[in-house]
Amino acid sequence: MRHSKIAGIGHHVPDNIITNEYLSTIMDTNNEWIVERTGIHERRWMNPETDTVANMAAKATRMALERAKLQATDIDFIVFATITPDYFFPGSGVLLQRELGLDGKIAALDIRNACSGFIYALSVADQFIKTGMYKTILVVGAEIQSTALDITTRGRNTAVIFGDGAGAVVLQPSDKPGILSTHLHSDGTFAEELYVKDPGSSRPHKERQPEQITDTSTFKVVMNGNQVFKHAVVRFMEVIQEALDANKLTKEDINLLVPHQANLRISQYIQEKLALTGDQVYNNIMRYGNTTAASIPIALSEAWAEGKIKENDLICLAAFGSGFTWASALIRW
Ligand code: COA
Repeated sequence: MRHSKIAGIGHHVPDNIITNEYLSTIMDTNNEWIVERTGIHERRWMNPETDTVANMAAKATRMALERAKLQATDIDFIVFATITPDYFFPGSGVLLQRELGLDGKIAALDIRNACSGFIYALSVADQFIKTGMYKTILVVGAEIQSTALDITTRGRNTAVIFGDGAGAVVLQPSDKPGILSTHLHSDGTFAEELYVKDPGSSRPHKERQPEQITDTSTFKVVMNGNQVFKHAVVRFMEVIQEALDANKLTKEDINLLVPHQANLRISQYIQEKLALTGDQVYNNIMRYGNTTAASIPIALSEAWAEGKIKENDLICLAAFGSGFTWASALIRW
């Protein structure tokens, strides 16, 4: 049977570092609160002169291609996970295709599953490789969250959490896995616990006319932090266990867990429940905040570059986020 494996991985984050101290000057917050509740010390926010979701994705892609010793022209399909595309439509997949000089040559698909988006995208790409339809698939998670944040005291529970960045992997066929399995879930009951309402289409025509909009708060991220936290810790554990059970493996078999970087306290909770050591869980939320669909590929890329991933290691990816959606993947490196 044909399987898929990760042939290369890369990432890119904007140069613009936003510290907790800086946030404390523009809203009522402080370094101690942010570090204690989230573990975040700083995050990157886009520079409007230089950064777009698509061009950050292109930079991450070039790193992934170089590490895989491949050319952009080897890519035959793009799966792009983002909830913050450069335009309302079209999605950023076609913009990345254009950045890479592949316009008109291959197909590009966009995935909107928030923090679980990268694993959803990986799962889709894995199926296309298994069927033999495509041979070299670029899977991307990239976000500019900073422009959707309410960076006033009113929005402080989200403004301090989210950051911008991009990560990319190149998937190719392999005789043996590679990706052992992926597990995807969603529950729309909780859609409004973490969401951005506008520009939503299901609004009276007059409410959608830019000149009529006086309250722009509906364009900003809204999050019920307590609800998200409560569900996240349960779903992370469930979906990791589901992946282990599906492969007749146990938590002792995991060499490295790369959880979506939602909140350091969530990662630490999972680490404790699985009885993993600090070395077995990769976290970089301290430096980048929560970069939604980009967080897992950025973390995976850094972990790989730091030599924390060796051949034959069992890598577990897990995510939870808006929707709610949650997902996991087990990978034999
Ligand atoms: N700085 C200072 N105070 C803040 C603050 C900030 N940035 N954000 C909120 N507060 C205040 C609140 O206004 C509240 O004040 P009050 O007691 O006077 O009303 C107080 O801190 C406690 O708020 P609460 O929301 O109960 O805090 P919390 O302990 O739940 O922490 C989160 C808030 C957001 C850090 C926490 O709920 C969380 O991490 N949730 C999960 C978020 C997540 O992972 N999201 C991504 C999912 S993909």
